[in-house]
Amino acid sequence: MNPLFSAIYCPKIIVGRGSLSYFSTLGKKRIGVIGYTDELNSTVKTLANETGAEVCYLAQVTQEPLIGDIFLCVERTRDFQPDMILAIGGGSVLDTAKAVHLFYENPDLRLEDALIPFSLPALGKKAIHVSVPTTSGTGSETTSVAVLIDPVTKIKRLLMDNTLIPHYAILDADLTDSLPDHIALSTGMDALTHAIEASVAKNASAYSRALALGAASDILENLELSVSSCCDAEKKKNVKEKMHVAASLAGIAITNSCTGLAHSYDHPGPAFGIPHGTVCGLMLPYTMKFCGPQDAYATLAHRLGYVGECTELSQQLIDHIFSMMNRIGFKTCFRDMGVDERAYLSKIDEWAETSLSAFATVVSPAQMTAERGRKLFEDCYYGNHPQFSDEASM
Ligand SMILES: [Fe+2]
Repeated sequence: MNPLFSAIYCPKIIVGRGSLSYFSTLGKKRIGVIGYTDELNSTVKTLANETGAEVCYLAQVTQEPLIGDIFLCVERTRDFQPDMILAIGGGSVLDTAKAVHLFYENPDLRLEDALIPFSLPALGKKAIHVSVPTTSGTGSETTSVAVLIDPVTKIKRLLMDNTLIPHYAILDADLTDSLPDHIALSTGMDALTHAIEASVAKNASAYSRALALGAASDILENLELSVSSCCDAEKKKNVKEKMHVAASLAGIAITNSCTGLAHSYDHPGPAFGIPHGTVCGLMLPYTMKFCGPQDAYATLAHRLGYVGECTELSQQLIDHIFSMMNRIGFKTCFRDMGVDERAYLSKIDEWAETSLSAFATVVSPAQMTAERGRKLFEDCYYGNHPQFSDEASM
């Protein structure tokens, strides 16, 4: 394709409270469910039975998917032979369904071959994939990536290809109303990170950047309210629905551009068992300093009501994010989170080296080196407030 053009990849999106029932209108008769709670499983069964469809629970996923668990689930899937794979849950559930769908339809595909980015076969020959998120953050229902964990090394392995994008994404905010606040915060900060990083990625198109900026504005406006106890019930439902849609838009934005440094330098997460969204959200404002002042940052600050030139506005956006994090009780440095200083500092040389070649680093506007990577990790540990004036002297 002409490099000046961009194709936009995303699932068919069904949105609105109560829209979960949409899956039962697709005319499928053998529905394999990957989920995480019995309550939702029985809701799905009731809806499916009304159309005469048979339901089989393929897996109950409560943690990031281990590679071995995926293949156990693939065996169950082959026994049942579904014509729809319905994933309903958080990011780990949705990622599991992508991997299961891939290996169900391609029994001869070897894992090592599948891990080669953008090399996967088309999907949909045996089953359609319907993805229903119950958190507002990962955007997995719209993305081309599934994160799997090697059970021995605990290292993340990625399946990545546009063929993994689900056929349908159902955004039913009813499923998010009972989400605990700490999960809403962590996943909401993940979504904010996706949106802001996609807005400055060097491979962004005009379209993906517009989606990213729209999502970031909505999250900045609604994240705090979505976890506030001062908000009346009706308003809170409205705010939660906006967060649900914005997280999904941010997912489409990263699928059609990329994430950035908070994702490629996110090693403290797996190393210290900190949730993905918590790590990325904490690192976001520090990484923005390394990207330098950006028109997209200025646009977002302007929409928040700030005035000034690009550098001034970019700084105001960083300060705004810090203030918001403090108000909502989101830790702003790893030291405050209780991460062991010596253990953390002993790892930053290796992390700074390995992050350099990650695609999200390459397409970030930041000019990273191993030394700047170490500085980023130190800033995130000690909470050195990011100032563009410091960055200019580095
Ligand atoms: Fe993320």
